[in-house]
This record gives sequence, structure tokens and C-alpha cells, in this order.
Amino acid sequence: MPQIVVLPHATLCPEGAVIEAPVGQTICDALLEHDIDIEHACEKSCACTTCHVIVREGFDSLNEPEEKEEDLLDRAWGLEANSRLSCQAVLADENVVVEIPKYTINHASENH
Ligand code: FES
Repeated sequence: MPQIVVLPHATLCPEGAVIEAPVGQTICDALLEHDIDIEHACEKSCACTTCHVIVREGFDSLNEPEEKEEDLLDRAWGLEANSRLSCQAVLADENVVVEIPKYTINHASENH
């Protein structure tokens, strides 16, 4: 089973975490199953950007993002070249390292 190394996030996962998840599961589902309560405002239907993660390692092992995901990602806070919507990013048999960005669009709009 691939491992997901989650880098520390101030509120969701202050110490960071290492979890195991089955091939074929999305990163979002894997995090939620392990009590890392990443936002998923559209219920994982690829219609928001709140489940955005940056894949620091193992990016190329994931499925190719669809156009819709790419379009949405353009609006995500803190977009990077290795950004994915975690509810659309499906694990293959390779470990990944993910970073949950500090803010989502929801937070950003509340605070600014
Ligand atoms: S939960 Fe909305 S796009 Fe992933």
C-alpha cells in the first residue's frame, strides 16, 4: 500500500502524519479516513478548490488531472506546479508527500 506523508499543518495536522492508503483511493478520502479533516466543500465533486493539496513527492505517479480540475486549480490559494485537488488525485502504488496549503479560498475570503 502506498504511504502518504502529510507535512505539518497548523490546525489540521500539527505534527504531520504518515498514513497508508489503498491504491485507487483519492488523497482526500485517505486523509479524511485518518482524521485529517481536510475541507471538501463540494463533497468531492470537483466543483470547488477547498481540497487543494501540493504534492511534494510522487506527483507523477498520480492520475492525470482532467481539464475541469486544472481550471478550478487556477483559482486555488497558493497554487503551485504540483498542486492537485485531492478529491481528484488517485493514488497509485507509490508513496507521496503532500502539503495542505495554509489557506483555502473559503478562509482567504473570510479573512480578507
Ligand atoms: S472537494 Fe471540492 S473539488 Fe475536491
